[in-house]
Amino acid sequence: MKILIFPDAATASAETARRILATLAAQPCAVLGLATGGTMKPVYEALRTALGQSPATFTSFNLDEYVGLPSTHPQSYAYYMKTHLFDAVALPGAQAHLPRGDAPDPAAEATRYEAAIAAAGGIDLQLLGLGANGHIGFNEPTSSLASRTRIKTLTHKTVTDNARYFGPDEVVPRLAITMGIGTILDSRAILLLATGAGKRDAVARMIEGSISAACPATALQLHANVTVLIDEAAAANLKLRDYYETVHPGGADEIYT
Ligand code: GLP
Repeated sequence: MKILIFPDAATASAETARRILATLAAQPCAVLGLATGGTMKPVYEALRTALGQSPATFTSFNLDEYVGLPSTHPQSYAYYMKTHLFDAVALPGAQAHLPRGDAPDPAAEATRYEAAIAAAGGIDLQLLGLGANGHIGFNEPTSSLASRTRIKTLTHKTVTDNARYFGPDEVVPRLAITMGIGTILDSRAILLLATGAGKRDAVARMIEGSISAACPATALQLHANVTVLIDEAAAANLKLRDYYETVHPGGADEIYT
C-alpha cells in the first residue's frame, strides 16, 4: 500500500484527479471504477474542468447504487454521476454503467452487473472512498472478503451517515447493490481517497489493522497496487505516520499509474 499524506483535502483531491487524468492520457479507453459521496465532489469538479465536452472515451462502472431509487431520483448515485461528471464530459450513455436501483429483480441485476464488468475486460483503475465504519462501496462490516456484486443491507451507521444527503422527509434506503470486495480486488489499480477527521479511525484500521471482514477496507492490504491519498486530518491516528511522510514527503511520488 502506498500511503500519501497531503496537507489538506483540496490537495489530496487534486492529486487524485491528476492520477485519473494521467491514466486516461496513457489509456484513453480505460475502464474506470467510480465512487460517489461528498469526498469525490472536488475530484469530479477537477475532471470536468480538465476533460470538458470532449466527448469522453473511457468506460465507467460505479461501485454501487441504492435499491429502489430510479436514476432520476436526486439521491440516486446515477443522478449524482450524471450531475457531477457524466453530462459535463459528454460520456456516452452506453459507456456509463451503474447497477439499476429500480431493477425489478435486484439480485439478478447484481449478477448482470458483475458479468458486465467482466465483459468489459475488468477495471483498470478503481476509485474508492471510505465509509466511517471501514466500508468500501457498500460492503459493510462482515462482508465476505471474497464477495462479488450483490445486495447488501446497510448498517444503521451508514444510513445515519448518508442521511445528510437526503431531505428531512425522505427515507434513506436500507438496501444497496454493491460491487463485492472480491470484485474490487480484481481491479488492476486502486486509488482510495479519504479526507477529514471523521475518517481517521477507519483510515488507521484500513492501513495498520489486521485484515478482517470487521473492517472491509483492510482487504485492500491484499492488493498489490493500492494508493491511499489522505489529508492530515484523516491521517491523525496512524501510528507509522512519520514513516509514510519520510517515504513520500507532502504526498510526493514519482510514479503515476
Ligand atoms: C457511501 C458510498 C461509499 C463512499 C462513502 C463515503 O457509503 N457507498 O462509496 O465511500 O459513502 O462517503 P463520503 O465521501 O460522503 O463520506
